[in-house]
Amino acid sequence: MRLVICETHGELGLKVANEVARLIKNKSKCVLGLPTGETSISAYKELVGMYENGDVDFSNVVTFNLDEYLGISKSHPCSYHSFMQHNLFGHINIPKASVHIPDGLAEFPDEECKRYESLIQIYGGIDLLILGIGHNGHIGFNEPGTSIDTLTHVVNLDISTVQANSRFFEKIDDVPKRAITMGIKTILSARRIILMASGEKKSQIVHDAFAKEMTTDIPASVLQKHNDVLVMLDKEAARLFDK
Ligand code: F6R
Repeated sequence: MRLVICETHGELGLKVANEVARLIKNKSKCVLGLPTGETSISAYKELVGMYENGDVDFSNVVTFNLDEYLGISKSHPCSYHSFMQHNLFGHINIPKASVHIPDGLAEFPDEECKRYESLIQIYGGIDLLILGIGHNGHIGFNEPGTSIDTLTHVVNLDISTVQANSRFFEKIDDVPKRAITMGIKTILSARRIILMASGEKKSQIVHDAFAKEMTTDIPASVLQKHNDVLVMLDKEAARLFDK
């Protein structure tokens, strides 16, 4: 695991975007795994800027999002489909057919999970997976206690996750309580992983995840098992590493 500490959240977004852009330029076809969430927005903004300046071409890029809520439609303003459209896909030249996000309205969610997992395999696996981290250490929606053997699956969201995500909804009761997420095994199968975290509020959990022993109580800590992980933090999130 390598640790990169950036001065600001803006610099973090730029550095993550640079890693993505470098891969896209070096590989004629590449498969990205992508998160939603506040932390990712600055990186997406940078990638949109790079596309607008003619520096990155997304026509040969394939993407798989980590997760999606169950029970809301793609067009719901808080769906992860909407988030991605608004922050990235709506502004770049990625073909619609190359974008993959679990279907939150799938009639048979378990079948949708199997379809999603095998689609990742059909595309040859994920070259670079970008992750955020939840306050409880979740990655994707793999909440504390998730087995490292999980593939894409249906999850019941932790109450702390529902609370954290309620800031995007009108009221907490509107936050879906279930989601589809890539599993820990799916995540660990990616060839490269970048985990990004920003702000003082993430400092304790990133320290617990990467400066202590691996435990499934902190799902992000299992990334210590992977041989190509870059943990990219801004100064506030890295506060406890400085000591
Ligand atoms: C979202 C996802 C989550 C977020 C995490 C951090 O697709 O997979 O694991 O990355 O909850 O979210 P923010 O960046 O909003 O703090």
